[in-house]
Amino acid sequence: MKTAVYPGSFDPITLGHIDIINRASKIFDELIVAVLMNSAKIPLFDTNERVDMIEKSVCDFKNVKVETFDGLLVDFMRKKNTGIVVRGLRAVTDYEYEIQLAQTNRALDNNIDTIFFTTDVKYSYLSSSVVKNIAEYNGDVDKFVTNYVKQKILKKYNL
Ligand code: PNS
Repeated sequence: MKTAVYPGSFDPITLGHIDIINRASKIFDELIVAVLMNSAKIPLFDTNERVDMIEKSVCDFKNVKVETFDGLLVDFMRKKNTGIVVRGLRAVTDYEYEIQLAQTNRALDNNIDTIFFTTDVKYSYLSSSVVKNIAEYNGDVDKFVTNYVKQKILKKYNL
Protein backbone atom coordinates (compact mmCIF):
# COMPACT_ATOMS: atom_id res chain seq x y z
CA MET A 1 0.00 0.00 0.00
CA LYS A 2 1.40 3.40 -1.02
CA THR A 3 0.95 5.97 1.72
CA ALA A 4 1.88 9.62 1.21
CA VAL A 5 2.03 12.44 3.74
CA TYR A 6 0.90 15.99 2.95
CA PRO A 7 2.41 18.13 5.72
CA GLY A 8 1.67 21.77 6.45
CA SER A 9 0.43 24.41 8.82
CA PHE A 10 -3.06 24.61 7.26
CA ASP A 11 -3.89 27.82 9.14
CA PRO A 12 -6.55 27.51 7.77
CA ILE A 13 -7.04 24.96 4.98
CA THR A 14 -7.84 26.66 1.64
CA LEU A 15 -9.41 25.45 -1.61
CA GLY A 16 -5.86 25.25 -2.98
CA HIS A 17 -4.94 22.70 -0.29
CA ILE A 18 -8.16 20.76 -0.94
CA ASP A 19 -7.35 20.63 -4.66
CA ILE A 20 -3.93 19.10 -3.88
CA ILE A 21 -5.53 16.61 -1.44
CA ASN A 22 -8.09 15.62 -4.06
CA ARG A 23 -5.47 15.03 -6.74
CA ALA A 24 -2.96 13.26 -4.45
CA SER A 25 -5.68 11.01 -3.02
CA LYS A 26 -6.28 9.64 -6.53
CA ILE A 27 -2.62 8.67 -6.94
CA PHE A 28 -1.83 7.16 -3.55
CA ASP A 29 -3.68 4.41 -1.69
CA GLU A 30 -3.68 6.49 1.46
CA LEU A 31 -2.98 10.17 2.08
CA ILE A 32 -2.22 11.49 5.55
CA VAL A 33 -2.70 15.23 5.96
CA ALA A 34 -0.18 16.04 8.69
CA VAL A 35 -0.75 19.23 10.66
CA LEU A 36 2.33 20.78 12.24
CA MET A 37 1.78 21.60 15.92
CA ASN A 38 5.05 23.25 16.91
CA SER A 39 5.34 25.94 14.26
CA ALA A 40 7.59 28.96 14.85
CA LYS A 41 4.71 31.04 13.47
CA ILE A 42 1.90 31.74 15.93
CA PRO A 43 -1.16 30.30 14.22
CA LEU A 44 -4.56 32.00 14.10
CA PHE A 45 -6.23 28.65 14.76
CA ASP A 46 -5.07 26.16 17.37
CA THR A 47 -4.26 22.60 16.33
CA ASN A 48 -7.71 21.20 17.16
CA GLU A 49 -9.42 23.93 15.16
CA ARG A 50 -7.14 23.35 12.16
CA VAL A 51 -7.69 19.58 12.30
CA ASP A 52 -11.46 20.07 12.59
CA MET A 53 -11.56 22.33 9.51
CA ILE A 54 -9.48 19.85 7.50
CA GLU A 55 -11.63 16.90 8.59
CA LYS A 56 -14.79 18.72 7.55
CA SER A 57 -13.18 19.52 4.19
CA VAL A 58 -11.93 16.02 3.35
CA CYS A 59 -14.73 13.81 4.68
CA ASP A 60 -15.68 12.81 1.12
CA PHE A 61 -12.21 11.45 0.41
CA LYS A 62 -12.30 7.95 1.85
CA ASN A 63 -8.53 7.33 1.74
CA VAL A 64 -7.55 10.60 3.43
CA LYS A 65 -6.91 10.93 7.13
CA VAL A 66 -5.82 13.85 9.25
CA GLU A 67 -3.11 13.60 11.90
CA THR A 68 -0.88 16.00 13.83
CA PHE A 69 2.86 15.98 14.27
CA ASP A 70 5.42 17.67 16.42
CA GLY A 71 9.15 17.95 15.79
CA LEU A 72 10.77 16.76 12.60
CA LEU A 73 8.74 15.63 9.62
CA VAL A 74 11.23 12.83 8.93
CA ASP A 75 10.48 11.32 12.36
CA PHE A 76 6.75 11.39 11.61
CA MET A 77 7.44 9.79 8.22
CA ARG A 78 9.38 6.97 9.88
CA LYS A 79 6.51 6.38 12.31
CA LYS A 80 4.13 6.16 9.38
CA ASN A 81 6.54 3.88 7.53
CA THR A 82 6.51 5.91 4.33
CA GLY A 83 8.99 8.10 2.45
CA ILE A 84 6.59 10.03 0.21
CA VAL A 85 5.96 13.68 1.01
CA VAL A 86 3.40 15.64 -1.03
CA ARG A 87 3.69 19.41 -1.43
CA GLY A 88 2.01 21.96 -3.69
CA LEU A 89 4.09 24.28 -5.84
CA ARG A 90 2.41 27.54 -6.80
CA ALA A 91 4.78 30.00 -8.45
CA VAL A 92 8.52 30.26 -8.87
CA THR A 93 8.61 32.12 -5.54
CA ASP A 94 7.73 28.85 -3.75
CA TYR A 95 10.58 27.01 -5.36
CA GLU A 96 13.46 28.13 -3.15
CA TYR A 97 11.65 27.34 0.09
CA GLU A 98 10.25 24.07 -1.18
CA ILE A 99 13.56 22.80 -2.57
CA GLN A 100 15.24 23.65 0.74
CA LEU A 101 12.58 21.73 2.64
CA ALA A 102 12.75 18.73 0.30
CA GLN A 103 16.53 18.60 0.31
CA THR A 104 16.79 19.06 4.08
CA ASN A 105 14.40 16.17 4.57
CA ARG A 106 16.47 14.02 2.21
CA ALA A 107 19.67 15.02 3.99
CA LEU A 108 18.09 13.90 7.25
CA ASP A 109 16.76 10.69 5.76
CA ASN A 110 17.53 9.64 2.20
CA ASN A 111 14.43 7.46 2.06
CA ILE A 112 12.34 10.62 1.76
CA ASP A 113 11.13 11.78 -1.64
CA THR A 114 9.01 14.87 -2.15
CA ILE A 115 6.42 14.81 -4.91
CA PHE A 116 5.32 18.27 -6.04
CA PHE A 117 1.87 18.98 -7.40
CA THR A 118 1.69 22.12 -9.48
CA THR A 119 -1.15 24.14 -8.07
CA ASP A 120 -4.16 24.64 -10.29
CA VAL A 121 -3.83 28.03 -12.00
CA LYS A 122 -6.97 29.30 -10.31
CA TYR A 123 -5.29 28.83 -6.91
CA SER A 124 -1.80 29.90 -7.94
CA TYR A 125 -1.92 33.14 -5.91
CA LEU A 126 -3.75 31.65 -2.94
CA SER A 127 -2.33 31.10 0.54
CA SER A 128 -3.69 30.85 4.08
CA SER A 129 -2.03 34.21 4.85
CA VAL A 130 -3.77 35.91 1.92
CA VAL A 131 -7.12 34.50 3.07
CA LYS A 132 -6.60 35.74 6.64
CA ASN A 133 -5.54 39.15 5.41
CA ILE A 134 -8.61 39.55 3.21
CA ALA A 135 -10.97 38.33 5.95
CA GLU A 136 -9.42 40.58 8.60
CA TYR A 137 -10.37 43.60 6.51
CA ASN A 138 -13.85 42.23 5.89
CA GLY A 139 -13.17 41.13 2.32
CA ASP A 140 -15.00 38.24 0.72
CA VAL A 141 -13.18 34.90 1.04
CA ASP A 142 -15.92 32.80 -0.65
CA LYS A 143 -13.69 31.94 -3.58
CA PHE A 144 -10.80 30.79 -1.40
CA VAL A 145 -12.16 28.59 1.41
CA THR A 146 -15.17 26.39 2.16
CA ASN A 147 -18.18 28.00 3.80
CA TYR A 148 -17.40 26.17 7.06
CA VAL A 149 -13.87 27.62 7.14
CA LYS A 150 -15.19 31.05 6.19
CA GLN A 151 -17.55 31.04 9.20
CA LYS A 152 -14.68 30.03 11.51
CA ILE A 153 -12.50 32.86 10.20
CA LEU A 154 -15.28 35.44 10.56
CA LYS A 155 -15.86 34.28 14.15
CA LYS A 156 -12.13 34.58 14.92
CA TYR A 157 -12.08 38.16 13.73
CA ASN A 158 -15.44 38.94 15.45
CA LEU A 159 -16.99 39.86 12.09
O1 PNS B 1 2.36 24.97 5.41
P1 PNS B 1 3.81 25.25 5.68
O2 PNS B 1 3.95 26.13 6.91
O3 PNS B 1 4.55 25.77 4.49
O4 PNS B 1 4.46 23.80 6.05
C1 PNS B 1 5.81 23.70 6.43
C2 PNS B 1 6.11 22.31 7.03
C3 PNS B 1 5.16 22.00 8.16
C4 PNS B 1 5.97 21.26 5.97
C5 PNS B 1 7.59 22.34 7.53
O5 PNS B 1 7.79 23.48 8.30
C6 PNS B 1 7.96 21.12 8.38
O6 PNS B 1 7.99 20.02 7.89
N1 PNS B 1 8.22 21.35 9.67
C7 PNS B 1 8.58 20.33 10.62
C8 PNS B 1 10.01 20.52 11.13
C9 PNS B 1 11.02 19.89 10.19
O7 PNS B 1 10.92 18.74 9.83
N2 PNS B 1 12.03 20.69 9.78
C10 PNS B 1 13.05 20.22 8.89
C11 PNS B 1 12.72 20.47 7.42
S1 PNS B 1 12.79 22.19 7.05
